[in-house]
Amino acid sequence: MQNNQVQIFDTTLRDGEQVPGCKLDTRQKLVIAERLDLLGVNVIEAGFPVSSPGDFNSVTEIAKIVKNATVCGLTRAVENDIKVAAEALKFAKHPRIHTGIGTSDSHIQFKFKSNRQAVIERAIKAVSYAKSFVEDVEFYAEDAGRTDNEYLAKVCEEVIKAGATVLNIPDTTGYCLPEEYGAKMKYLRENVKGIDNVILSCHCHNDLGMATANSISGVINGARQIECTINGIGERAGNTALEEVVMVLKQHPYLNLETSINTKLLYDTSIMVRESMGMPVQPNKAIVGANAFAHSSGIHQDGVIKNRETYEIMDPEDVGVTESAIVLTARSGRAALAYRAKKIGYELTKVQLDIAYKAFLNTADQQKEVKDEDIHNIMNKVNKTSKVATA
Ligand code: KIV
Ligand code: ZN
Repeated sequence: MQNNQVQIFDTTLRDGEQVPGCKLDTRQKLVIAERLDLLGVNVIEAGFPVSSPGDFNSVTEIAKIVKNATVCGLTRAVENDIKVAAEALKFAKHPRIHTGIGTSDSHIQFKFKSNRQAVIERAIKAVSYAKSFVEDVEFYAEDAGRTDNEYLAKVCEEVIKAGATVLNIPDTTGYCLPEEYGAKMKYLRENVKGIDNVILSCHCHNDLGMATANSISGVINGARQIECTINGIGERAGNTALEEVVMVLKQHPYLNLETSINTKLLYDTSIMVRESMGMPVQPNKAIVGANAFAHSSGIHQDGVIKNRETYEIMDPEDVGVTESAIVLTARSGRAALAYRAKKIGYELTKVQLDIAYKAFLNTADQQKEVKDEDIHNIMNKVNKTSKVATA
């Protein structure tokens, strides 16, 4: 029987921070790491310690303050990287070294000018060396998405023998289709000796907008860890968005897959990362975008006012958004105007609503959005023609 708990591995501070213009100082990283720990992520990838003294220092400081999550440092399959990562992680309660190497023919031929057997040998050496420092060693097969399954299985089997505890199968270039990525996980589960003793991990990039779908397909097919970032930030088109995979699993309970995330903290965490990284979130971004729970067409507004579930598949409060927004525009109907007017203190009769609605449409045609102060003005005018009860 497979465990139904999906581990959330957050790489906002490593893969996320690789975005141009996103540089964070150690103090900012500590604030984010503390928040991620509170959010309930299982693993925080704190950085790539050998890459710079600043990153080394950040990983060291994060390792000291994180209370619950495993703290992880990235390395290449290079001895010095691994030694430096182990040093940076020495104060962590639960340290993990994340080491690996490219396994696709493209990486083997062009990046390493090597061959498949030599790459396997480097992978084994790296894992064994990491294992001499820490018990928990995650191996990544970079560009696994474009690595042929038979060879990938061989790599996985060898690194398991060398002591890997987690196998990361990255779709580094964001190329896989969900069926293909899921089938890869299934293939590994069925063809790698010792696979039941390790955790298979999804690490998907969003180049074709499929990172979330691929990660979900991965866990449906047996993976039990998802690597992701807040707001989906990351190289190029980004990584899998943490808030998306967590809410997909929560909103589809029949999948019987759970995470330990406190979803009510998702929205505030998104704002914290957006602000400290200076990376705006697109308004239509799932879960945390400004419009994720805003309704502007008259038909939708009428439905939501009658019952939220007509146009919303999750409760905004579950992700920390206080309520759905009814945005008043020229597309809004009488129901939306009456609803908003009531919220700010005006109970309208049918006759009053007819008068107010005409004035509302005039204002709406001149402005993109009708705000509460506009409604007060409209009500003043209506008041002059008819008595409006103030609640
Ligand atoms: O996308 C990727 O392959 C990575 C690895 C370094 C884990 O980020
Ligand atoms: Zn990546």
